[in-house]
Amino acid sequence: DKKAEESGWTPTSEIALREAADRLRLGGLVAFPTETVYGLGANACSTEAVAGIYQAKGRPSDNPLIVHVASEADLDELVFPYPSLAGRLMERFWPGPLTIVLPVRPGVLSPLVTANLSTVGIRMPDHPAALELIQLAGCPVAAPSANRSGRPSPTVADHVLEDLNGRIDGIVDGGATGVGLESTVVELEGECAIRILRPGGVTAEALRLAFPDAEILYESEESSMSEQPRSPGMKYTHYAPKGELAVVQGQPDAVVAYVNEQARQYKENGVATGVLSFSERVCRYEADLVLDLGGQSRLEEAAQRLYGALRQFDEAGVSRIWAEACVPEGIGGALMNRLVKAAGGRIIDLDK
Ligand code: TXA
Ligand code: MG
Repeated sequence: DKKAEESGWTPTSEIALREAADRLRLGGLVAFPTETVYGLGANACSTEAVAGIYQAKGRPSDNPLIVHVASEADLDELVFPYPSLAGRLMERFWPGPLTIVLPVRPGVLSPLVTANLSTVGIRMPDHPAALELIQLAGCPVAAPSANRSGRPSPTVADHVLEDLNGRIDGIVDGGATGVGLESTVVELEGECAIRILRPGGVTAEALRLAFPDAEILYESEESSMSEQPRSPGMKYTHYAPKGELAVVQGQPDAVVAYVNEQARQYKENGVATGVLSFSERVCRYEADLVLDLGGQSRLEEAAQRLYGALRQFDEAGVSRIWAEACVPEGIGGALMNRLVKAAGGRIIDLDK
């Protein structure tokens, strides 16, 4: 079908998919494409398998994993009855890049999946290969992004191999992922409030439009960095490039002038420099490696390119990187969130 073609996955890989599903069910680690980023899957009911995920990634074990399902019917044995608002979110956004935190029913999922929380994040990915893999495996699939901890999430199969080759039992290659950034993680406060714990593929605007009566709340930066954040993953610096990154915002001409002046100084001292730019200004920067995120009015494309670009800077051994800021609207909200995280919070605001 059309979706399968777009994602580069074709039904000819059916045999490979069956094999991958068998490995998953039997406790192996299999990386697979989703519409957001590649996931590293394991049978979510097997503690041994799930332990393998933490080990392969080098991930801290207090950071819980998202469980992927192929149908809503698979949910009942995993979670306690949930607010009807959760059901309506699923109806509207599943399959899709929305992870919903729900009260976990003890006894079915490995406690390692939830890092001993009383809740579990669940999503149904919008990718034909992912859905078929989960269905064939016949078990809920725990899957964080398929990168080594501290590296950018993988958006093509090669990124997975770069990070995890030799540590996993297989990979389903579905070509490039669609969204390019991870799913939106939400938790509900009763029937009337949706709290965004991690911005992602389902934008705040889309949530507001679909549920005009619900209050949309955001996890504050202080809370996310505290000892007991609502979303444990947010307290980790997700990805820090080998080079030091800063996000620069302000009038376009001022941004170009500032970055070029900085780059000139660093270059004089023999430091390799990089810029992450939108197409509009890509020719104006004088750094050693200038990467193009696409037009600034097409932030969907920038989201698709971001993680690959960050990997390119690492490969090139760039030590100072400046990234243009974007409008934090639509997918731009998630894009800025990831950029600022990669920058360790360094934002240079030239308007101030
Ligand atoms: O798009 C995605 O979500 C990808 C693909 C593979 O599905 N997965 C992904 O997983 O990004 P991971 O493990 O890299 O990120 C999971 C995020 C973390 O920030 C984690 O703290 C949060 O979800 N999370 C998981 N379970 C949670 C829970 N019970 N309560 C709050 N946050 C939770
Ligand atoms: Mg991740």
